[in-house]
Amino acid sequence: MLFLQLPLLLALLVSGDNEENKNSIPEGFQEPVSFKVFCVLSFHNSSWVQSLGSGWLGELQTHGWESNSGAFIYLWPWSKGNFSNEELMELQNFFHVRFIRFVQAFYNHARKWQFEYPFEVQTANGCELHAGKAPVGFVRVAYQGSDFLSFQNKSWVSSPEGGKRAEGLRRLFSLFGGTDEIIHKLLSDTCPRFLLGLLDAGKAYLQRQVRPEAWLSPGPSPGPGRLMLVCHTSGFYPKPIWVMWMRGEQEQQGTQRSDVLPNADGTWYLQVSLDVETSEASDLSCRVRHSSLGGQDIILYWDHHSSVGWIALAVTVTLVLMAGLAFWLRKHWTHRGSPSSRLPLE
Ligand SMILES: *[C@@H]1O[C@H](CO)[C@@H](O)[C@H](O)[C@H]1NC(C)=O
Ligand SMILES: *[C@@H]1O[C@H](CO)[C@@H](O)[C@H](O)[C@H]1NC(C)=O
Ligand SMILES: *[C@@H]1O[C@H](CO)[C@@H](O)[C@H](O)[C@H]1NC(C)=O
Repeated sequence: MLFLQLPLLLALLVSGDNEENKNSIPEGFQEPVSFKVFCVLSFHNSSWVQSLGSGWLGELQTHGWESNSGAFIYLWPWSKGNFSNEELMELQNFFHVRFIRFVQAFYNHARKWQFEYPFEVQTANGCELHAGKAPVGFVRVAYQGSDFLSFQNKSWVSSPEGGKRAEGLRRLFSLFGGTDEIIHKLLSDTCPRFLLGLLDAGKAYLQRQVRPEAWLSPGPSPGPGRLMLVCHTSGFYPKPIWVMWMRGEQEQQGTQRSDVLPNADGTWYLQVSLDVETSEASDLSCRVRHSSLGGQDIILYWDHHSSVGWIALAVTVTLVLMAGLAFWLRKHWTHRGSPSSRLPLE
């Protein structure tokens, strides 16, 4: 969940100037599509740095990174997209060398720029494609969570809040002759090409359709005489889903939607709830619309839910009574039976 720490890094995207290179996003994908590489470096002391790197296609992690060797880890059979092993190896070496230089820059200047151990540096690089527009590439560097440096229009720009230290680092990076051109090419050409190759290679997986399961439950009581109706949907893919509490054909405006949360298997979960007067809960239904359902919405009625609830309660009560009866009978029977069965032993 590395990416959760880095929203600020993604806030500002830098426009590539590759105007002639307009994108066409393959059919069946919602734009924008993006490929992002995140790296978090934890500098513990002057000789120990830990780093965590990962690659993400939208919200799906596709790559890991072995920081000691610099090796890419391909998390899916299609994680190489349509790049050859040679091209991937070249990229891997490029990143490894840059990573070492990057770490060295911090080590060498830690004292001068007053970086106090331990500190954390985060980077986010990648590209985003919008149909009919030039690709948008970005490189962001943050120190202790605040913006430090970015790459814009073929050169490094330090952010004002980074102060002198960011400016010093910018000058240092700008001295790596020729690298700016390479970064520009990576962002405006290599990254979009890789992204499109990934979408193509992973199409079957990325465009799969998995139906949601839906169920109802009462939520925590909002107060006397009121009910919280909760409609759960889980296990669906892709992420976009429409879930609404309805009375007949009328959408209930008080419907509260939770965040869409990830399940461990890459599918999604969402719950929507509605706070109502107990007397008004009957004839409410939860309606679920999702691309996997082929236009056949799932509709669950609260009435049925509560009658199912009553049936479940009735069954439970019956079972408890029967168990009680069985226990009583058994006890009764053993009491009467035991004296005679024990007699011969005594
Ligand atoms: C850095 O931290 C590691 C692990 O705690 C320790 O083994 C090492 O001696 C430290 N190095 C320095 C220079 O403080
Ligand atoms: C980048 O360059 C374009 C024109 O080439 C210019 O319009 C734009 O303002 C520049 N952006 C920055 C942040 O310098
Ligand atoms: C990979 O696919 C993209 C998009 O279809 C294409 O532009 C590119 O030429 C292909 N091959 C390589 C090696 O990038």
